[in-house]
Amino acid sequence: MWIKRKPDWNLPESAVTSPEAFRQRRQILKTMAAGPLVAAGSTLWPGAARADYGPPDGDPTHDLYPVERNPAFTVERTKTEREVAATYTNYYEFGSSKTIWPRAQDMEIRPWTVRIDGMVEEERDIDIDDLIRRMALEERIYRLRCVEAWSMVIPWSGFPLKDLVDLARPLSGAKYLRMETFHDPDVARGQRASWYPWPYVEGLTMAEARNELAFMGTGMYGEPMPQQNGSPLRLVAPWKYGFKSIKGIVRITFTGERPATFWEALAPDEYGFWANVNPRVNHPRWSQASEKVLQSTSDIGIFSRPEEVATQPFNGYGEYVADLYAGLEEEYGDRLYR
Ligand code: MTE
Repeated sequence: MWIKRKPDWNLPESAVTSPEAFRQRRQILKTMAAGPLVAAGSTLWPGAARADYGPPDGDPTHDLYPVERNPAFTVERTKTEREVAATYTNYYEFGSSKTIWPRAQDMEIRPWTVRIDGMVEEERDIDIDDLIRRMALEERIYRLRCVEAWSMVIPWSGFPLKDLVDLARPLSGAKYLRMETFHDPDVARGQRASWYPWPYVEGLTMAEARNELAFMGTGMYGEPMPQQNGSPLRLVAPWKYGFKSIKGIVRITFTGERPATFWEALAPDEYGFWANVNPRVNHPRWSQASEKVLQSTSDIGIFSRPEEVATQPFNGYGEYVADLYAGLEEEYGDRLYR
């Protein structure tokens, strides 16, 4: 995302990457870029040059996939190609470009523990494999609408967030869920950029977390999740702009206070707590009326011309979630939608 106050281009890539890795990466990118340019002409997307953008070999939950599709959640649009969803990603912990996936793949994702704390009957740490194995996994095809006005259609695997809320047994005073990403600047070099308020934090109200759409992603395209998409645990909240769907979760806190979220702390007028998709409420610096549909690699190359379609209120999920906000319009107005 582009933040006016701290523009991404203020940070040279060499400032967040070791000199050696930086040089190596330059070389790889050069090779990757040259291949498709010469060979294909149609695609200039570097992801195409390597095929290892999938989940890590030996993921201990591999045997669970593919999981059964929940037919209630499907989308009339064509699915985004797996290569696009796995190589065009936002994960600022690894840098601010869309091509960070090779760096994210260097991250070790086992052992991985999720801490559940705050206003719950009993605080605890859960090993990710115990958690994934005790949940009933299913596949849901959801639209993903980024605040940057592009969209994808992705088959996620995972479990309803409500099941995790039930497992946590929150106390009656809990009003919000605060979710936090890992913090490891040695591996995630984007976290050395000191002007970002690391770790990444997101939040939902309890009513949102219990809504049947709210989903915890553990996999995609019938396999465990690749690191760059948020493995081993991420939120998928399809009625909100993509930045709400926090990746690499290590802690879930039940709280009575509205959490201070990562992007809101940086640019509160541009990326707020609610961030419900609404084509009538523009981002202060661009329109949200339509979105570029990223379906194949030819939609993300330099000369690409992706199809542009009208954005739908709540990203097309109003029948599930509009009621959640009916009483809040007066208090928050347009703030519900950015
Ligand atoms: N989670 C963390 N921890 N860090 C991030 O930078 N980016 C967000 C969200 N979750 C982000 C994150 C943004 S801006 C978007 S659009 C989605 O992840 C993108 O998900 P995808 O890369 O799997 O498509």
